[in-house]
Amino acid sequence: PVLILLGPPGAGKGTQARMLEERFGFVQLSTGDLLRAAVAAGTDAGRRAKAVMEAGELVSDEIVIAILRDRMAQSDCAQGVILDGFPRTAVQAEALDTLLQETGQKIDAAISLEVEDAAMVTRISGRFTCGGCGEGYHDSFKQPQAMGTCDKCGGTEFKRRADDNAETVASRLEAYHAQTAPLIAYYKAQGALIGINAMGEIDDIARKMTAIVKTAT
Ligand code: AP5
Ligand code: ZN
Repeated sequence: PVLILLGPPGAGKGTQARMLEERFGFVQLSTGDLLRAAVAAGTDAGRRAKAVMEAGELVSDEIVIAILRDRMAQSDCAQGVILDGFPRTAVQAEALDTLLQETGQKIDAAISLEVEDAAMVTRISGRFTCGGCGEGYHDSFKQPQAMGTCDKCGGTEFKRRADDNAETVASRLEAYHAQTAPLIAYYKAQGALIGINAMGEIDDIARKMTAIVKTAT
C-alpha cells in the first residue's frame, strides 16, 4: 500500500507515521529525514538543501524527487510505504503519480491531518527526538517515562532540530499554505482524500488513523 500523510509542520505526521510503521510494518518515508541525512553526510544534494531548510523554505522539486525515487526503489518499500512530508508541491504530486504508474502501484489514501496553525508553534518548539532511535518527544505533551532515558531504546542522548525555532516555523507554515495545501483538493479530486481532526491527544489520533488505514488497505 501507498499512504500519504498531509499536514502542516507540527501536525503530527512523523509521530503518526512511526506508529503506523510499528503497527502495520509499512516503511515510513520522510523526505525531511532523508534530506537531514543528506545534509549530515555532506552529499551534493545535502549541501544544496542545507540553507533552504534552515530558512524554512522548500527544497527544489528536482532534489526531493530524486531522493524519493531512490528510496522507493529499495526492496523494503515493497511492504508498503507511508509518505511523510512528500509530496509538498503540485510538481511532486505529479511525479509521484508517474512513479506509481511505472511500478503498477496506486495511492490507497491521502490522509490530511487538520490542525490549527496557532498550536503548531508550541508543538514544534517543544519537540525533541532520541539520538539513538529517532523516537519523537515533546517538553509538554510526551516526555520519556523515565526522565532523560528513551522509552524505546534506553538511549540518553536527545536532539533538537536546527529549523525548530519560532522564526523558521513561520516560514514553514507559509510554505505549507502556499504550496502544499492545494494538494488537498488534488487528492480530493482523485477520490483518495481522508480528512482527520488532529487537534486531540496523540493516542486518540493514533486510534483514528489505525481505523482509517485498516479500511483503506
Ligand atoms: P520535515 O522534516 O518534513 O518537517 P515538517 O513538515 O515541517 O514537519 P515536522 O517534522 O515539523 O512535523 P510533523 O508533522 O512530523 O510533527 P511531529 O510528529 O514531529 O521538513 C523539514 C524541511 O525539509 C522543510 O522545511 C523543507 O525545507 C524540507 N523538505 C522536506 N520534505 C520536502 C519536500 N517534499 N519538498 C521540499 N522540501 C522538503 O510532531 C511535532 C511535535 O508535536 C512533537 O514533539 C510531537 O511529540 C508533538 N505532537 C504530535 N502530535 C501531537 C498531538 N496530537 N498533541 C500534542 N503534541 C503532539
Ligand atoms: Zn530511542
